[in-house]
Amino acid sequence: MRKVLIVGSGGREYSIGYFMKDEAEIFYAPGNGATDEFATNIDIKDFEELAKWAKENKIDLTIVGPEAPLVDGIVDVFKKHGLTIFGPNKDAARLEGSKVYMKNFLKKYNIPTAKYIETDDMQKAYQFIENMDKTPIVVKADGLCAGKGVIIAESKDEAKKAVEEMLSGKAFGEAGKKVIVEEFLDGFELSMFAICDGKDFVLLPAAQDHKRLLDGDKGPNTGGMGAYAPTPLATAEIYEKVKEKVIKPTLKGMQEEGNPYEGVLFIGLMIVDNEPYVLEYNVRFGDPECEELMALIDTSIYDMFYNGATKQLDKIDVKIKDMVAVGVVCASKNYPYSSSEPAVITVDDLSDTNGYIAYAGVKKIDGKLYATGGRVLVCVGFGKDVKDARDEAYKIVDKVHFEGKKYRSDIAYQALKY
Ligand code: AMP
Ligand code: GLY
Repeated sequence: MRKVLIVGSGGREYSIGYFMKDEAEIFYAPGNGATDEFATNIDIKDFEELAKWAKENKIDLTIVGPEAPLVDGIVDVFKKHGLTIFGPNKDAARLEGSKVYMKNFLKKYNIPTAKYIETDDMQKAYQFIENMDKTPIVVKADGLCAGKGVIIAESKDEAKKAVEEMLSGKAFGEAGKKVIVEEFLDGFELSMFAICDGKDFVLLPAAQDHKRLLDGDKGPNTGGMGAYAPTPLATAEIYEKVKEKVIKPTLKGMQEEGNPYEGVLFIGLMIVDNEPYVLEYNVRFGDPECEELMALIDTSIYDMFYNGATKQLDKIDVKIKDMVAVGVVCASKNYPYSSSEPAVITVDDLSDTNGYIAYAGVKKIDGKLYATGGRVLVCVGFGKDVKDARDEAYKIVDKVHFEGKKYRSDIAYQALKY
């Protein structure tokens, strides 16, 4: 049987392995307390050591889930050892690792995005702010800040204060030593994911994430409290525009930069008056978007990633199921503020539900599964439409029990307004 190594430990990585387990023997580095039910967890952190292990164990394909190892160059190390790995190399991963690099790339290749200035000079930033004719104003730190480096300032003074805090290093240390100031785009957000092999791509169904902790998009930002796909908000026209105005020029631009883009291109979009604007790129799947997308793929997931890693996407036809998937995150009590005490997880009989559970922040202690904090698991429901899938997802949520379980009760509300 073919062998696949998945790097990461969250619900995103769980779902990739879960939907590939009939096609390949799965290994995780490091995996979590639930991945070991269908796969083998390996505890090797160093990339060189892991590559050696992958070679010795004849791994056919490695898939990297999170951005940190990509930005740190895991792909470069594996390729140096002659291994097949799906993901961007260190240079290409700068599309996510540096917002300044990304914005300058968008501008150079004429890809629609909010008007901006990038600078490390406080006076230049202030001047740009003074000349802006609308508020709110968006201020972003250059580097990776775990999703917290974006301030939507309601006034010019607030924007200046955010710039000052970032440039002085007070807010985000080194990551904030350069800033982006940009216009606020007023529209609705979509997440689009393209599997890329450097020249060709496969565009997956569009998803919507729910970044805020509480119902009605209130409360602090999180990694994502739920997602659904496909969203009816993405019309055929929008898919076409994203392909022509965003993905094709991005792949061409990366080729011209000498960095052909291989891996998942996650495009965070704002749709304004039916036109897509790029808010950000990420160089990996979204979490919890991946947990729904993997369930929607009707053809071989192994082939999709393998062909993506070997420049052969033109040889396959990725088919998508005619269904909707809705994922509701169940997080631990103190998320996203602080850690929580481990809490035992029990799950009632799921045989009358249509969906699955993607496990993330879990650990096995004496054969029992414990929630260990953060986003614990994602209950994913399947259905013929958004409402159906959402009902199934919440049916599963009701069957999952652990102390402090917390979730949003309005996932996919944007789609149900219509
Ligand atoms: P980012 O990390 O750049 O995607 O920003 C995080 C979130 O901030 C996005 O998901 C949007 O909700 C919001 N945001 C970022 N940039 C803008 C913008 N120019 N206009 C409106 N909202 C924005
Ligand atoms: N769910 C959004 C992200 O993974 O960045």
